[in-house]
Amino acid sequence: MTVVESPRVLAQQTASLSPILKQATPVIVDHALGSWIHGTDGRDYLDFTTGIGVTSTGHCHPRVVAAAQEQCTRIIHAQYTTVMHPPLLELTDKLGAVLPMGLDSVFYANSGSEAVEAAVRLARMATAKPNIIVFQGGFHGRTVAAASLTTAGTRFSAGFSPLMGGVHMAPFPYAYRYGWDTDTAVDFALRELDYLLTSRVAPNDTAAFLIEPVLGDGGYLPTPPRFLAGLRERADRHGILLVVDEVQAGFGRTGKFWGHQHADGLTPDILITAKGLASGFPISAIAAPTELMSKAWPGSQGGTYGGNAVAAAAAVATLDVIDDEGLVENARVRGEQLLSGIREVTAGYDVVGDVRGLGLMVGIEFVARDGDATRPDAAAALAVQQATTRHGLLTLTCGPEGNVVRLIPALVVSDEEIAMGTKRFASALAEVAGERAHTDGS
Ligand SMILES: Cc1ncc(COP(=O)(O)O)c(C=O)c1O
Repeated sequence: MTVVESPRVLAQQTASLSPILKQATPVIVDHALGSWIHGTDGRDYLDFTTGIGVTSTGHCHPRVVAAAQEQCTRIIHAQYTTVMHPPLLELTDKLGAVLPMGLDSVFYANSGSEAVEAAVRLARMATAKPNIIVFQGGFHGRTVAAASLTTAGTRFSAGFSPLMGGVHMAPFPYAYRYGWDTDTAVDFALRELDYLLTSRVAPNDTAAFLIEPVLGDGGYLPTPPRFLAGLRERADRHGILLVVDEVQAGFGRTGKFWGHQHADGLTPDILITAKGLASGFPISAIAAPTELMSKAWPGSQGGTYGGNAVAAAAAVATLDVIDDEGLVENARVRGEQLLSGIREVTAGYDVVGDVRGLGLMVGIEFVARDGDATRPDAAAALAVQQATTRHGLLTLTCGPEGNVVRLIPALVVSDEEIAMGTKRFASALAEVAGERAHTDGS
């Protein structure tokens, strides 16, 4: 007699999350509101990560929740290359009011990486030129093309070559690293860019410069306005497009609606946005002048989920909340409070090399000292980041060398929450410094 194995026995496997997933904190979220995350461990955490700069209006803002709920009852997936839906039309209309003058045509995707790819494809199609120049430390995403444009750490591009061709890297004016003042660093970076354009990457073969207004994953480094202006001038001179990646720095986060607006009067040719756009729903967009967009043919880009109706409704609500609650101004004021508070509580710690930021993007760079020389201290940054979680404050690290702790509160963050977050950061830093002193001394 043949024994037939029971299918129920075979079905007993349980799956687990892939070890590919690396998590910065051990927190499992039960629910969240505003600047606060409530963990399944019963603890309340002040969230200065905001899903990596995504939940702009805070977690579960009632107006965003209501807009999404209402849209769910109408239609969830109105596939935008098949049918159109009102939230996307309304969002496009509203974005028109905040987009830089002249950038009047918008195309939607789902994620930052997809929008970066959309921008690069548009730039190449519009100019019929292959090269893209990126700036050292820039982060533009994880898909293969976006990873090819990313220089914020080899961890984002190692091991799956070949990467996309036609990408060239110029230095970023990282004044602290070079040990220079900002002007010297800007002069150097512009000079090296000119050198690249004469020595290796001909302007006639170059479609675009791609830059973040604040390097995000690359270390929370504000791009000096004079550097952006230098790129604009060279772009105009050589017929190269200036593409700004506002995925992390846009949507009010830096205290202006767009990060590049810190460079007075500067207008990019293509703007990329995602993250804060819909307070947590996945939607991204690129904007450019209609004339430029028209150089790519209809149907040259698209996707199954792009411009999702629920995400678009949440984005419309996000824009309304940002406007009605004065959140861009709040980001500016609370950002100044956070930066000065963190400078105050980190003063006197040798392990802190630099504290910098723009609006609600604040980075603390950790270093080890050897006389006058410093080198990146990733272990210190990681220890402080982990300690903040124990002290009830969620933070992240960043930087190619992993030695920067970044603080990214929601745009709705209050005076009291900034004060509390600063205090918790100070306690975490004191704990780590104390432990290190103890270890060194023993
Ligand atoms: C500046 C910038 N560009 C692009 C991306 C990629 O976005 P996504 O992770 O949504 O693909 C990110 C993500 O952190 C980013 O910060």
